[in-house]
Amino acid sequence: MPAEKATVSVMDRGFLFGDGVYEVIPVFGDRLLRLDEHLARLQNSLDRISLSNPHSDEQWTEIFSQLLNNNDGEDRAVYLQISRGVYPKRDLAIKAGYPPTIFAMVLHVVPPDVEIISAGISVITVDDFRWGACDIKSTSLVANVMLKQQAVSADVEDAILIKNHMLSEGTASNVFIVKNDVLITPPTGHKLLPGITRDLVIEIAKNNAILVEEREVKESELYAADEIWMTSSTREIAPVIRLNGEALGSGSAGPVWKRIVDLYQQYKQELRSI
Ligand code: PDD
Repeated sequence: MPAEKATVSVMDRGFLFGDGVYEVIPVFGDRLLRLDEHLARLQNSLDRISLSNPHSDEQWTEIFSQLLNNNDGEDRAVYLQISRGVYPKRDLAIKAGYPPTIFAMVLHVVPPDVEIISAGISVITVDDFRWGACDIKSTSLVANVMLKQQAVSADVEDAILIKNHMLSEGTASNVFIVKNDVLITPPTGHKLLPGITRDLVIEIAKNNAILVEEREVKESELYAADEIWMTSSTREIAPVIRLNGEALGSGSAGPVWKRIVDLYQQYKQELRSI
């Protein structure tokens, strides 16, 4: 149905508590990027909040394909949100017997132009005051909104989140550094969202003989890095050129970024042509 015709109850727990999870799945041509991985992450988010998956992977695939058939366009993304549904009373306790609220829509995304993103972004570091369950792709995003707003107020594109002097991730992306041609990113766990783009970048790097280390990254390593990138489904792989007002590395997108971004574009192109 048209988005403006869709309604949700004011008693929906997604609305009242942010009690729900979501996914953003990029679509190139008619192909959903890494659908199995997105569905596995969805399952993890649902398990973590004790909400049973209302559909099988086959049913989700069918729903997404219908949605895409009804919303044409070349490059799109599927947005899926599942909340714990509508209870008669505003009560934190989980009760059985109420169906979840499922909402999916097609986002029309313009994939970032490599020429344009190669100009790089400016970022600041901010204190990551979020909770200890950042691996859940939760719709409770007020902390991310506040952190992003710190970047907006500082007149930069984004913020890199630091917890106890260690790198966690971006406000809506994962973070990589390059030092001496080695690609380094924090390990998955409760401190960050296991990004699908992150995993894809790691896979592409390893397949092309670029060394990858998944390990804790000290805040001080950011300043000494040759390159920093921020990765997400919508942003793809964005090179950072300024950190807290200072030029980073050479002050422009680096050679390792260039290699990976070309390989990533190739991967997308192959997906489009399947
Ligand atoms: N966000 N970390 C956070 C906190 C995120 O919100 C996201 C993605 C990522 C990267 O995940 P992926 O590579 O699977 O997109 C990491 C999506 C794009 C969003 O909220 O719109």
